Amino acid sequence: MLALLYMNNLIFSGMQPTGSLHLGNYLGALKQWVELQEQHDSIFCIVDYHALTIDYSPKDLPNRITELALDYLSAGVDPEKSIVFVQSQIPEHTELAWIFNSITPMGELERMTQFKEKSEQHKQNINAGLFTYPILQAADILLYKADRVPVGEDQVQHVELTRDIAKKFNKTFGKTFPETKVILTKTARIMSLVDPEKKMSKSLGEKHYIALSDSPDAIKKKVRSAVTDTHGGSKSAGVTNLFDILEALNGDDMVSELKDQHKKGKLPYKDLKDIVANTIISHLKPIQERRRELEEQREEIGEILIEGAERAQEIAQKTMEEVREKVGVR
Ligand code: TYM
Repeated sequence: MLALLYMNNLIFSGMQPTGSLHLGNYLGALKQWVELQEQHDSIFCIVDYHALTIDYSPKDLPNRITELALDYLSAGVDPEKSIVFVQSQIPEHTELAWIFNSITPMGELERMTQFKEKSEQHKQNINAGLFTYPILQAADILLYKADRVPVGEDQVQHVELTRDIAKKFNKTFGKTFPETKVILTKTARIMSLVDPEKKMSKSLGEKHYIALSDSPDAIKKKVRSAVTDTHGGSKSAGVTNLFDILEALNGDDMVSELKDQHKKGKLPYKDLKDIVANTIISHLKPIQERRRELEEQREEIGEILIEGAERAQEIAQKTMEEVREKVGVR
């Protein structure tokens, strides 16, 4: 429980409410949140303002926020141990983002890989929010003076920018923010099942990812159609990805034995895929069951988010008092 302001080694992370989560989100971020909250004070945010930067349906958004909260909780995020809240409930996020806008060079934002990729994907809607997205992310993190950010590999560049913004702010206005670092899992980059050169993502299409809500049949079907070694290499990107998924869910011992068998040519891909599919199914089963239970208690989810926002705002207001004073707006 966060009893004091500004804890040491505070963890902060967040996800966008853009629809069902996939195995990449889980193995890159969510699974480690659940482990980290046992040892550290943690804050987990639903970053709805970030989700406005690509086309979305205003009618669906409130439901998506609740759905994401359900995903967090059913995966094991515990509101007794961590703060869980919705970004737009705390206006200090956008307030701090504005101040960071004014100290961040355009050139730094132009370098951001995610901006380049998203501009490519959403050619009809390259808005200023998409461009300054990493600044709002820096504000999310630094508002709580968080030291560690558990995310997937695609977010490393944004956290590095967060550190640069903190340094620039500290240098200009006096020491205020920590130099935040990422925490990555071994599986910080889960790849698409059918195109294992690309990271797993919903935008590639249904067959490319496993949703946390997928049925056992859907999981079997998707894993069976996973690409293995089309390029004829000894261990292609697709096979490596399957082993990575297995390792993340099952631990090293079993996997090193299977890798051995694979090296000796004694592990048919069909068998490997069956093992991977069954491992995913049995890992997701309790999460899916908990989710069904929690779905019956939607009102409580609302209460958890309100309480989370109250606790988060206490810290956010304190930081903004300090920031306003330092930058000379009062
Ligand atoms: P989002 O919602 O796009 O992604 C949520 C998390 O999932 C990770 N991830 C992956 N990890 C491994 N393999 C993959 N294929 C894969 N795909 C996605 C992402 O790295 C991320 O950790 N910008 C953030 C949201 C955010 C945030 C923050 C995060 C806003 N403010 C402050 C941390 C701290 C994002 O990409 O979310």
